[in-house]
Amino acid sequence: MDFKRLIDVRRSLRAYSSRPVERDKVERMLDAARWSPSSANRQPWRFVVVEHDAPERLALEEALDAGNSWANRAPVLIVAGAVPSEGLVVESREYVLFDAGLALMSLLYRGADQGLLVHPMAGWKEAPLRDALGLPDSFAPLVVVAVGYHGKPEELDEATRKKDERPSTRKPLPEIAFENRWGVPYSTKIPSCPAKVFETDIQLRFRDTDAMGHVNNATVVSYLEVGRLRFLVELFGGEQVRNIPFIIADVSCSYRAPIFLHDQVRVRIWITDISRSSYRFRYEIFNPADGRIFVEAETVQVMYDYKAKQTIPLPPAFLDVVREYVAV
Ligand SMILES: Cc1cc2nc3c(=O)[nH]c(=O)nc-3n(C[C@H](O)[C@H](O)[C@H](O)COP(=O)(O)O)c2cc1C
Repeated sequence: MDFKRLIDVRRSLRAYSSRPVERDKVERMLDAARWSPSSANRQPWRFVVVEHDAPERLALEEALDAGNSWANRAPVLIVAGAVPSEGLVVESREYVLFDAGLALMSLLYRGADQGLLVHPMAGWKEAPLRDALGLPDSFAPLVVVAVGYHGKPEELDEATRKKDERPSTRKPLPEIAFENRWGVPYSTKIPSCPAKVFETDIQLRFRDTDAMGHVNNATVVSYLEVGRLRFLVELFGGEQVRNIPFIIADVSCSYRAPIFLHDQVRVRIWITDISRSSYRFRYEIFNPADGRIFVEAETVQVMYDYKAKQTIPLPPAFLDVVREYVAV
């Protein structure tokens, strides 16, 4: 998965499916953690993987705080921590927790990369957790990570579902990053939200649906094309669109909910990741009546000279016209 997309899809949600997690996916997560950087390559991290049917599992679940009981549904729980005596110390700086955090991040991203829902937790009691897994004093447990597939939010209790419905937020970049000197906000150029988005309605046809009664996944890709074309026609005019030669280098879709024939369907489009000769369209296909998102998608366009058979730089005039539709 594209790294920017991975950053966007990894979220600490709480609705797990009971679908078992393949052992090789867990192994890849552990291997990603293993290849993390660490100070002086000390690799002080350790992991204990506890599956749903393990005899230790119930005692581990009982060590979790009541507010984390949603995690009991996750087929795999991984206790991640470190061996403090293996960590590097430079002057007064102890790097053991830092190294363990880097490894945890790799583990989480590799999980999300494989379509898994990964949620780290600090909410648990240490003594019963140690007892449950027979942890030695030399090991400091730091987080329990719930690992599984995304489940149905409606199966969560109301309080937990409300937590998941809250949008994920972050401090603004200039508040956490400084330029040259502490306290001087790092000046940003790209807004985190575009000033404008383009939206267009899609008229569904009976033939768009498949035997399951919902819009076929391949047809959804053609909705992206309709939206993209209308966006370019709106901004550049029908004649000029031919003069913006590009090839589609990448298409990816996350199907969030099925689209049925009776649904209202609208495509929302904006731009991210402008580079020398390519840019990315981001799409949300949603129901304008209730805001429900059916599909999140993206396509990468590479500017291409079909005669010379080579990529070409994005024309500055193109960037001028689309500027308001660009975000991080
Ligand atoms: C070390 C650590 C401990 C956390 N502990 C809990 C927890 O006990 N329960 C919980 O519901 N979420 C927990 N979280 C998830 C955070 O609340 C979540 O990462 C944060 O709100 C940002 O949201 P996001 O991960 O969806 O981007 C923890 C996250 C980290 C990194």
